[in-house]
Amino acid sequence: MDDLREKYIELIGAAADEAALEDLRVQAVGKKGEISLQMRSLGKMSPEERQIMGPKLNALKDEINSALAAKKAALADAALNERLQSEWLDVTLPGRTRRQGSIHPVSQVWEECTAIFADMGFSVAEGPQIEKDWYNFDALNIPGHHPARAEMDTFYMHRAEGDERPPHVLRTHTSPVQIRSMEAQGAPLRIICPGRVYRADYDQTHTPMFHQIEGLAIDRDISMANLKWVLEEFFSAFFEIDGIKTRFRASHFPFTEPSAEVDIQCSWEDGQLKIGQGDGWLEVLGSGMVHPHVLRSGGVDPDEWQGFAFGMGIDRIAMLKYG
Ligand code: DAH
Repeated sequence: MDDLREKYIELIGAAADEAALEDLRVQAVGKKGEISLQMRSLGKMSPEERQIMGPKLNALKDEINSALAAKKAALADAALNERLQSEWLDVTLPGRTRRQGSIHPVSQVWEECTAIFADMGFSVAEGPQIEKDWYNFDALNIPGHHPARAEMDTFYMHRAEGDERPPHVLRTHTSPVQIRSMEAQGAPLRIICPGRVYRADYDQTHTPMFHQIEGLAIDRDISMANLKWVLEEFFSAFFEIDGIKTRFRASHFPFTEPSAEVDIQCSWEDGQLKIGQGDGWLEVLGSGMVHPHVLRSGGVDPDEWQGFAFGMGIDRIAMLKYG
């Protein structure tokens, strides 16, 4: 019995894993295990011998069983410790830093413009980006044969075969919102219309989608002088330069008469553009007095009302302000 005890205690102590331990259990105390066989031999003993050997064998069996259980627990502990070691995670390490996002310059300038014009009493109007060609062209005094249509590099929407109606277009400018606003609100009117516009023109210096802000003020006695004041007020506020100089150049747009392109004062030094100084000029928008045909398209009587309009590129002034 001592030999058995010594042998199994040692083997159990040395078992490498649970499978080896199970083999030992079968070998020692399984149905045909060495200790079990010994217990079976109790039957052949004399009652006196059995009295002594019975409890001893039982004690041995108990001892082996608890050695097996203890070893099993130790193996499980070791396995857990190993996992804890290999899967260890230092939660005190600093996190990966991410760059902070910021508002896109176009969105920012869009909002700056809206705020400045809001201070001058202009409210925001919007129109669809997929527009009827009537609103984008005809209503703005650009009839079908007008060269301005070709110059606009228009994206046309697909038409079903046999559909002879004029195709919708991706609006080429924000000017159609002038018509929609006049239709919806009548005169007097004071609005700006910021939005996306599209032209089939793309290379290193053109993008097929860009942004404009349209302005429209209609009342009984609106004049070019009001236009000039509003724009100069706007540019001073936008570029944060008091008394910024503008230059109005006679121009032509089908939807205004007279028409003017507006430049702002700037200088170029060492490739650096500076707004509001120097003797250079930079074109920033088109404008003029709303053409009577355009007022009529919007349902406004040109004998009673007149107004100014302008159209400005948001992307362009964003580049000017933020380099
Ligand atoms: N719609 C013109 C363009 O996209 C810009 C423009 C010029 C708008 C004169 C106006 C205007 O309202 O009066 O080029």
